[in-house]
Amino acid sequence: MAKLPEITFSKNSIPAKGTLVVLLPKDAGLPAEVAEQAFAKQLEKAIKVEEFSGKARSNLSLLAPEGSLDRVILLGCGDLEEAEESDLLKTGGKLMALAGKAEKVFVLTSGAGESEGLSAKVVATIAAGAKLRGYRFDDYLTKGREADKKPKKAVKIGFGSDSLPETKKEWSVFDGVTDGVLLARQLVNEPANTLGPVEFAKKAKELEKLGVEVEILEPAAMKKLGMHALLGVAQGADRPARMAIMQWKGGKKGAKPLAFIGKGVVFDTGGISIKPAGGMEDMKGDMGGAAAVTGLMHALAARKAKANVVGIIGLVENMPDGKAQRPGDIVKSMSGQTIEIINTDAEGRLVLADALWYCQDRFDPEFMINLATLTGAILVALGKEYAGIFSNDDQLAENLTKAGTSTDEKVWRLPLGEAYDKMIDTKNADMKNTGGRYAGSITAGQFLQRFVNDKSWVHIDVAGTAMAAPTNEYNQSWGSGYGVRLLDRLVADFYE
Ligand code: BES
Ligand code: MN
Ligand code: ZN
Repeated sequence: MAKLPEITFSKNSIPAKGTLVVLLPKDAGLPAEVAEQAFAKQLEKAIKVEEFSGKARSNLSLLAPEGSLDRVILLGCGDLEEAEESDLLKTGGKLMALAGKAEKVFVLTSGAGESEGLSAKVVATIAAGAKLRGYRFDDYLTKGREADKKPKKAVKIGFGSDSLPETKKEWSVFDGVTDGVLLARQLVNEPANTLGPVEFAKKAKELEKLGVEVEILEPAAMKKLGMHALLGVAQGADRPARMAIMQWKGGKKGAKPLAFIGKGVVFDTGGISIKPAGGMEDMKGDMGGAAAVTGLMHALAARKAKANVVGIIGLVENMPDGKAQRPGDIVKSMSGQTIEIINTDAEGRLVLADALWYCQDRFDPEFMINLATLTGAILVALGKEYAGIFSNDDQLAENLTKAGTSTDEKVWRLPLGEAYDKMIDTKNADMKNTGGRYAGSITAGQFLQRFVNDKSWVHIDVAGTAMAAPTNEYNQSWGSGYGVRLLDRLVADFYE
C-alpha cells in the first residue's frame, strides 16, 4: 500500500525546524505562539497581501520565514460551528496535499486570544482526512510516470492539541474507521488476477487479528446448504466460490445482530451473456459491496464498536466457459424458490439471493443491509453522486439517509412495489433474473426483496459510487471505499 503519513499528537508548540502548518478558523486571529515569532511581521503582511480570512481550505505559504523553519503555511478551516465531518476531512486532505514533499510537518491547532484551540474531534477528523488523502494504489508501479512515482518516505505529521488525551482517544476511533476505508479501497483497486474469491476470503480471515470471528464456506458446504443460485454464477470459473461470514460481538450478549451483506463478484465478464470489451476492465471492481462490508467489519472491530454485527460476503467470478451457466437455465436457490436465468450478466442478484436468505435464516438479524455494484441503470438514474437505496422499512431508510448526509456518502431512495415485482414473473419458474429494459435498478431490488423473508432490509446499489467516482480532497483513489463511513456512522448514531 501507499506510504501513508505517520501521524502523531503532542501539545501545541512551535517546532524548531521543518514546516509549520497553522490551522485557522474563519476570521480568527493568529495564535499567541505565532504572534511571538520572528516571522510574525512577514506573516501578517502576507495575510494582508493575500486577503487571507481562514475560508475553508484557503491557504497561504510563507517560504524561508525569518528564523529556522523552512516554511509556514496557513490553512483555513472555515466556520467550525457549521462544518460537517466531510468538510473537516477535506481540510485534512488539503493539508496532506500542501505537506507535499516535506518530510516533517507540525500542525498548530491552538486558538487566538481568549478562544479555545480546535476541539479533539475536529483535530482527529482533520488527521483522518490527511491519512485518507495519503492513500494511492501504487503497489504495481516499478518505475512509472514521474507523477505516479512512489514517495520514498512517509511524511511525518505531528498534530498539536490543547486537549491531548481526548484527541488521542478520538483518533483511535477515527484511525480505525480510516483503516477500514483504506482496506475497502485497496480491495476494489486490486486486479482480479491477484484477488480471486480464495484470496478475498483470506483477506476477510485476517480480520481475526482484530477479534472478528470469521468462517469461510467452500463450495461443498454451500452445495449442502442449497445455494445453487450463487454456485450457478461460479460454475463457469476455474477459481472456486467462497462465502465469508464475519462476526463482531461488541454488543450485549444475546442482542440481535445488525447484518451487512456484500456482492463480491471478483470479476464480471457477464458470463455467456458476455459484456462488450470497452471498459470491461472496470469489472474488477464488481466486488465493491463485499469490500465495503469487509472494510466496515474492520472499522467496527478496530474502534471496538458496542454492537453485535454480522458481515456476509458472497465471492465468485462470473466467467464464460464450457461449464458456464446458460440463458434459459433454471436454478433452485437456498430459499427453495426457482429462478430462470434470462441474462447471465444479471449475476449479482443471484449471489445475493443466497447470501440474504442464509443471513436471515441463520442469524435472525435486527436488519439486513446489502451493498452491491448491481446495475448500470443506477448510473443512468443517479450518476456518481448518490447511491440508490431500496427498502421495506421507512425508519431504517431514513436513518441511513441521515448517516449519508453527515458522512457525505449520500443515498437516494427509489421505490419498490407490486407492479415492479410482477416484471420478474415468468411462466417457467418462480421468477426470472431480469425484468426487461425499464426500471432496471428497481426490478433488481424487487428480485432481492424476494429473499429477505420480510426482515427489515435496505439494498444499496453502489455501482456508481464504489468505483471510478469523482475524486476529492480526501480521496484520490479509483476504488472509493464508499459505504464504510456511511455504515459505521449508521451503527454509531443509531445502534450503539
Ligand atoms: N456488475 C454489473 C453492474 C455494473 C455496471 C456495475 C457498471 C458497475 C458499473 C452487473 O452485474 C450487471 O451486469 N448488470 C446488468 C444487469 C442487466 C443484465 C439486467 C446491467 O446493469 O446491465
Ligand atoms: Mn453482470
Ligand atoms: Zn456484476
